[in-house]
Amino acid sequence: MTSKQAVYLVTGAAKGIGLATVKQLASRAKHVVMNVHRPLSDDQWAALAAQFPNVSQYVADVGDAGQAETMVKAIVAEHGRLDGLVNNAGITRDQLIMRMSPADFMTVLQTNLVGTFNVLKPALKQMQRQRNGAIVNVASVIGCHGNVGQANYAASKAGVIGLTKTAAKEGARRQVRCNAVAPGMITTAMTAALPEKVREQALSEIPLNRFGRPEEVATAIDFLLRQPYLTGQVLTVDGGMMV
Ligand code: NAI
Repeated sequence: MTSKQAVYLVTGAAKGIGLATVKQLASRAKHVVMNVHRPLSDDQWAALAAQFPNVSQYVADVGDAGQAETMVKAIVAEHGRLDGLVNNAGITRDQLIMRMSPADFMTVLQTNLVGTFNVLKPALKQMQRQRNGAIVNVASVIGCHGNVGQANYAASKAGVIGLTKTAAKEGARRQVRCNAVAPGMITTAMTAALPEKVREQALSEIPLNRFGRPEEVATAIDFLLRQPYLTGQVLTVDGGMMV
């Protein structure tokens, strides 16, 4: 399987790190399916499709196991295989533990952790059948270190890391690899929503003295998809924040 024949799926790909990853992979792959929660606007889609004719969009909520499985099956039915999965879809509902509602705790777990499992399970099954494939889950440095106001998010991303290491062990017998990236502070809608004070504080803790770009996470994801002897790893992409 050469890179030119590869078929990839990136979840939560409408913007941010997911969209940058779609573009990175589309420049070398046969086909990239971008999963979106809501369809792109006609203008957004026209611009993307003009630049990358080998990209298609698939609308599904990764938090719904049935939709996730149907999506993976549809890709395999159309393209005959699935070589790489990037589990990128994620949300935040920040609040101190004392004020966090059970609903907000569960909503974040449902998308970030259960959603990752929902897509990973049918993809792993297909890749094991092929005896080839690679999965990259998007975790976070918060999943390794915790953060004030992000108990739900930290728990979900810590779970993603445990899931990654387990999938790596289960997939290895059939040459399926599974790794994670743990981004630090990346300039996307997710970090734009943070209060200015929080962003300034975060910046002061980054030795490289800037937030990362989505494209910089995308190149790390691409590396993990391609590197044939790496599995079960968590690659931190954080400008030295957690060194
Ligand atoms: P973003 O908010 O720009 O993108 C998240 C995407 O996930 C959106 O396109 C959204 O529609 C999609 N999504 C949400 N729920 C979904 C669902 N149920 N089904 C399908 N798609 C869904 O955020 P960003 O920053 O690009 O985040 C991407 C990933 O990177 C997330 O998993 C996030 O937790 C992670 N991350 C981001 C960091 C940052 O600093 N921006 C740092 C560490 C991790």
